[in-house]
Amino acid sequence: MNLFDREQLEFHRRHIGPDKQETSRMLKTTGEANLAQLIDKTVPSGIRMKKDLKIPEAMSEFEYLQHIKEISMQNQVFKNYIGQGYYDTITPSVILRNVFENPGWYTQYTPYQAEISQGRLESLLNFQTMVSDLTGLPIANASLLDEATAAAEAMTMFFNMHNKHDHIDRPKFFVDRDIFPQTRDVLHTRAVPIGIEIVTGDYASVKIDEHYFGAIVQYPNDKGSVEDYRRFISAVHASGGYVVMATDLLALTLLTPPGELGADAACGSAQRFGVPMGFGGPHAAFFSTKDEFKRSIPGRIIGVSIDAEGNRALRMALQTREQHIKREKATSNICTAQALLANMASFYAVYHGAEGLINIAKRIALLAQTAAEAITEIGFDLVSENYFDTFTVITEDIRPIREKALRQQINLRYFDDRHIGISVDETTSLKDLFDLINCFTNDVDAVTFFLEEDSTLDHIPGTLTRTSPFLTHPVFNAHHSESQMMRYIKSLENKDLSLNTSMISLGSCTMKLNAASEMIPLSWSHWSRMHPFAPAEQTKGYRQILSELSGYLCEITAFDACSLQPNSGAQGEYAGLLTIRGYHTSRGDHHRNVMLIPISAHGTNPASAVMAGMKVVVVKALENGYIDIADLTIKAEQYSHELSGIMITYPSTYGVYEETIKEITDIIHAHGGQVYMDGANMNAQVGLTAPGLIGADVCHLNLHKTFAIPHGGGGPGMGPICVKSHLAPFLPGHVYSAEKGMVIHDQQQTAVSAAPYGSASILLISYAYIRMLGYDGVRMATEYAILNANYMRARLQNDFDILYLGTNGTCAHEFIVDLRPFKKSADIEAEDVAKRLIDYGFHAPTMSFPVPGTIMIEPTESEDKAELDRFCEALLGIREEIRQIEEGKADKKDNVLKNAPHTQFTVIKDEWTKPYSREKAAFPLDYVRLNKFWPSVSRVNNTHGDRNLICTCEPVSAYAEEESSR
Ligand SMILES: Cc1ncc(COP(=O)(O)O)c(C=O)c1O
Repeated sequence: MNLFDREQLEFHRRHIGPDKQETSRMLKTTGEANLAQLIDKTVPSGIRMKKDLKIPEAMSEFEYLQHIKEISMQNQVFKNYIGQGYYDTITPSVILRNVFENPGWYTQYTPYQAEISQGRLESLLNFQTMVSDLTGLPIANASLLDEATAAAEAMTMFFNMHNKHDHIDRPKFFVDRDIFPQTRDVLHTRAVPIGIEIVTGDYASVKIDEHYFGAIVQYPNDKGSVEDYRRFISAVHASGGYVVMATDLLALTLLTPPGELGADAACGSAQRFGVPMGFGGPHAAFFSTKDEFKRSIPGRIIGVSIDAEGNRALRMALQTREQHIKREKATSNICTAQALLANMASFYAVYHGAEGLINIAKRIALLAQTAAEAITEIGFDLVSENYFDTFTVITEDIRPIREKALRQQINLRYFDDRHIGISVDETTSLKDLFDLINCFTNDVDAVTFFLEEDSTLDHIPGTLTRTSPFLTHPVFNAHHSESQMMRYIKSLENKDLSLNTSMISLGSCTMKLNAASEMIPLSWSHWSRMHPFAPAEQTKGYRQILSELSGYLCEITAFDACSLQPNSGAQGEYAGLLTIRGYHTSRGDHHRNVMLIPISAHGTNPASAVMAGMKVVVVKALENGYIDIADLTIKAEQYSHELSGIMITYPSTYGVYEETIKEITDIIHAHGGQVYMDGANMNAQVGLTAPGLIGADVCHLNLHKTFAIPHGGGGPGMGPICVKSHLAPFLPGHVYSAEKGMVIHDQQQTAVSAAPYGSASILLISYAYIRMLGYDGVRMATEYAILNANYMRARLQNDFDILYLGTNGTCAHEFIVDLRPFKKSADIEAEDVAKRLIDYGFHAPTMSFPVPGTIMIEPTESEDKAELDRFCEALLGIREEIRQIEEGKADKKDNVLKNAPHTQFTVIKDEWTKPYSREKAAFPLDYVRLNKFWPSVSRVNNTHGDRNLICTCEPVSAYAEEESSR
């Protein structure tokens, strides 16, 4: 290889942990002569890919950054007044640099291990407090995927309050005609499969009766009008229904909040709180509701609990409600949400405080008022006199205005041939107003307008003017200088273990490197400031990337078509199942509604199937973890007539490539079913095999696993789906036509996400991953993921029971360590091991999935041998500690594992009464001394927080009590 070739392959070395020497030493441990032999032993030959992927060669990081810069220049950043749920915003630089661009924040995992997640838990609690305060409703969750799906979650929550799956009492849901079209579209998608009947109309005249379980209105509405819904809400309540208001957090700084108007829930997007538009996302949606819905609220809620020392500690509350426990009875499939973006939005509120937010909102409202008055002065009428930031102009013909706007690089919103919407945002300046108003002038008269800084806001009705205070908690009033803000962000970051501390070996979740070169372009304005509803000719750069990426994903999956719309894995499952449903329906097979799901499946699988209107039938597993083909055959025959399909994960969630996979897919096809493959484990397939080769018809890909999008502490993610050609007509559609530059009403399929390409901006990360690794690099990543897992398995297998290996004794890219025997031998549970790993500086692997009492380790290809060894030594150290208990050398109750994790407060206390040394508690191995990560709280009490659910910031006295007890 010459010097230039070597440069081109530079990223292979950066992304893949082990080098040549390490590889051969690791292979010695696993007992193979070379990597090819290990792969041959592991991946069944019948499903192997026999050719190289048709993906371009690798690019160096430097080359890639130049390439992506050039493409970005094909996007044109116009001044946007489109609104419709997406607004340009100013990300405070202190948040951009210290959160958005900081691996300490974006590489975190979902905060299941509360003791090493107190920073983001606090920030998410701030988010909940902010949402709860602004919407005037007591319970808020820690983000959802986007505004449209949040509205759909509210709809299903209300539906389930009144109806049972098999018995629908109240089928109707009223949708006001003036909600965002994309929200209406997603509501429609979500309603049909579960038997909800959507009735669209005018809230002011509709008659709500006892057939309605609920209703949705938008505040301010799609046209910008601020409507008083008090009477409507009372009418819905009088007939026993519930109301959700889709709303805007910035508007609520000036408007009476939904809770005070009587709404039962509020939802919307927190995007304009400092999160760039990014051509549609990622952004955090919010959801708040009344106390009576607290056990039904979708998504994750951060709650206040206590730790083993009785100190205040945060954790994800009501974790047991998640799909893993409830499976097909779960009412929502939300798993990954938008934690990173919720953190950014909450920091935005912390930084500005109530006063700062009110000032921003007032400035926007004043500019909107000034522009609207100047435009009416010219002779145009408005749809409504009551507005905050958005007003809609009536005109005879939009064309001349549109042409003039385009000439000035301005995007307005074109509802139809006669209505133009204008949404002012935080970035709008006085100079912008000249250009904006100029679009409506005749080019002869001078543009004039008058703006008085202390003008009253005449278009916000007095009856809807906010009087209640918000963000009064000290956290929103203490960090307004950049120094304080920077330190606050850092202090929270310090409490959290992320990939910049040590490996996070979460089986199924694939916490691989999120390379800086993959991330950097996301901050560039030609990507970040693009509106998702900008006309096609302005978004050529995005379109090129999206089309290339779709092609690569089809090539990798051996499928024919791709939708980039689903913005999480679970959304992908749902979208994929809808393609199956659409296919059967198109053939007149309306009755095909049974979905077979193996017992080992991830909880989102059954939850998604139920949302797609399917009946779940569980298929058993054999002792070796394989799907029980005898049981599968019986069930496929039993439900042959109604069979919709099967959902399988491959390699299975047990971490093995079942050789029987083709037999399984053949059985399903023979009964007329379709095969859905959950792509969570694609990290073990890319370049070696493919869903299309194992007989699947559709799969989703968790781009936040296999394709390097970071987990962001619980989101963002992306879950595109790829399908065989016969399912392509049923891929999600969207109401917005970029070619026409407006909403259309004749789209073939409805949408699953608010934006046409979901969280489009982070697709750049996966694109970068594929381009910098190239066709052979993505395959090597898979091979090394398998090598790393097998190396660790080989190092651990003499001391731990490893469950479910393949026929040749190897694992795939992950493996399960059985900890159940230690319960009997030493009263040690999986949780004790997980918490003790924290003392060794590591995040626990996946706990109790798919088998309770086990841990599932997935090291990924990005870790080198030294890090894998450290992790193995930690686990072996823990095994020795368990042995001490087994042999009676350590106490069964008072030992290093039961008391883990040990905080610095515990180990420096003057009094030390434990039967082991402080050193053993905090520095169990030498390497820990060099890079000690201190958990900020002791073991968090799991039940206390659920019993006393507090999900907003508590009064300061609570913190004060805690400090004094330390
Ligand atoms: C096997 C499997 N399927 C589906 C999902 C759901 O993906 P997401 O969290 O992106 O919704 C996960 C997530 O962990 C998973 O491990």
